[in-house]
Amino acid sequence: MIKVGIIGVGTVGTSVANILKDNADVISARAGRDIVVKSGVVKNLAKDRGLDITLTDNVDDILNDDEIDVVVELMGGVEEPFDVVKRALKSGKAVVTANKALLAYHRYELQEIAQDLPFEYEASVAGGIPIINALRDGLSANHIESMMGIMNGTCNYMMTKMTNEGVDYDAILKESQDLGYAEADPSFDVGGYDAAHKLLILASIAYGIDAKPEDILIEGIENVTQDDISFAKEFGYAIKLLGIAKKTGSEVELRVHACLIKKDEMIAKIDGVMNGISVVGDKVGETLYYGPGAGGDATASAVVANIIDIARSGKSTPMLGFDRPMEGDTLTLKPVE
Ligand code: HSE
Repeated sequence: MIKVGIIGVGTVGTSVANILKDNADVISARAGRDIVVKSGVVKNLAKDRGLDITLTDNVDDILNDDEIDVVVELMGGVEEPFDVVKRALKSGKAVVTANKALLAYHRYELQEIAQDLPFEYEASVAGGIPIINALRDGLSANHIESMMGIMNGTCNYMMTKMTNEGVDYDAILKESQDLGYAEADPSFDVGGYDAAHKLLILASIAYGIDAKPEDILIEGIENVTQDDISFAKEFGYAIKLLGIAKKTGSEVELRVHACLIKKDEMIAKIDGVMNGISVVGDKVGETLYYGPGAGGDATASAVVANIIDIARSGKSTPMLGFDRPMEGDTLTLKPVE
């Protein structure tokens, strides 16, 4: 049996606990053993989450619990989870995180600390889409020429609603928060930072680029007006917030901004909370990954997949990228112009 401690039992954490229970039959068959959540950390112990796990408001109860094999970090933020994940790894526990902001800043340090301990992060990019797995394993024979797509469900949900229903920006942002799509601080979504965090993670895997958000161009959707959207629609375009990575020679350009896309292109047709990422490999050509980019169950599906993988193999999956760039050391980040 594998015992799990969840640090941050919010929307995604609650779904992780529920999925492990609801799908215990297939999960234990695939993992080769039972996986149970022993305890979870919450800020507010008084709130009823409908879960039959032990709840605590002290991370030490999980970090110092020798019975816990896997720590799932879903607390959000950067420096506090950095400390918690470091402590978990140093005490020999495997870690699964969905925290893209943490990885955008500290992925290489954490990889260094983890060494051979499992340290997995499938849910950090594009929610339920197994894009990390695809990039790390399925496409590992390729030089990656480009990666481009919708990486933030909240922005895509908002732009879709504004295009189809003309709904007020603030009202839809509130709706995205109520649906559990937006970050605790939604300016990370609408400011483009969340998409940038995800792009940086993908760029590490594909190119070994060790960049931080400050190093790349990031624009959000705050300045996109209802008029912009209506004009774009009139002329046959959709406006989408895209994360773009493009390799030219030995340079990789990384940027996040709103783009006009012809409405008959596949990416233009991706609506609502869905994400869609095109990855072009030099041998495979273009591949496209599509699915729910945010939301409790979709994101938890990726978290649980990592836990199953850890239970199954009991060891770390080779981390192409963070410590072993696919492209060697020859690629550099193109400076922002
Ligand atoms: N706030 C994020 C989004 C959650 O809307 O895409 C999933 O990473």
